[in-house]
Amino acid sequence: MTMSEEDNIELREIDESDLELLRRWRNDPSISRWFFSETRISRRMQREWYARYRTNDAEILFMICRDGETLGTIGLCDIVRRHRKAQLGRFLIADPGHRNRGFGKKAVLRLLEYAFCAQGLNRVYLEVFESNAAAVRAYQACGFEVEGELMQSIHKGGAYYDTLLMAILKQDYERSRSGDASTRKRRDRRRRALAGTVTALILFSLV
Ligand SMILES: CC(C)(COP(=O)(O)OP(=O)(O)OC[C@H]1O[C@@H](n2cnc3c(N)ncnc32)[C@H](O)[C@@H]1OP(=O)(O)O)[C@@H](O)C(=O)NCCC(=O)NCCS
Repeated sequence: MTMSEEDNIELREIDESDLELLRRWRNDPSISRWFFSETRISRRMQREWYARYRTNDAEILFMICRDGETLGTIGLCDIVRRHRKAQLGRFLIADPGHRNRGFGKKAVLRLLEYAFCAQGLNRVYLEVFESNAAAVRAYQACGFEVEGELMQSIHKGGAYYDTLLMAILKQDYERSRSGDASTRKRRDRRRRALAGTVTALILFSLV
């Protein structure tokens, strides 16, 4: 499947010929450090994963392409059609020389277009290491909001890591595309008001 070509960034669903490249990317320490799993992927594991993937309609994985060149991957998993929601995952721009050039954000926007317009989903969410500043920034720039901080959510390499739960709703995606951010502003105002109340309560309890 090939999607919109805005800004030369296209998403196309992976096929069997991509497996070895995917495996190499996933085993690259500069990438795997930002994924939750510590497992090194063998050829056999990759083949077995792909066999499951082909019969799993709760997941779709895309190659991020630009002018015919494959830059990375992005996908949806845990697609629950009854609740019209899915998790964004497997997001990577493989070559460090390609990072910080806006390709990741464009890929996220292409994926959201697919999720909300083609798949009819209502909510796309994700969990990311709080320390992954580039990923968090890219998600925020595409309209994702932080829903919460999950303390010590991931245990990896003998240490615990905090993560952020982030999400975007179809209504906010559509408003941001049409240049109207009013729902988000209302929600931000509510949060600021709540934060003010909590601060006032703390100060009150101190006097
Ligand atoms: C996360 C990743 C996919 C983002 O792709 P990308 O093409 O580099 O992203 P973009 O260039 O579109 O946007 C990155 C944003 O982060 C900002 N950024 C980059 N490094 C940053 C840092 N250390 N601190 C704060 N912001 C940072 C960039 O300035 C840019 O923000 P902008 O809107 O102000 O321009 C890419 O960095 C990557 O592959 N990282 C390794 C794997 C990974 O972390 N995957 C995500 C798992 S959740």
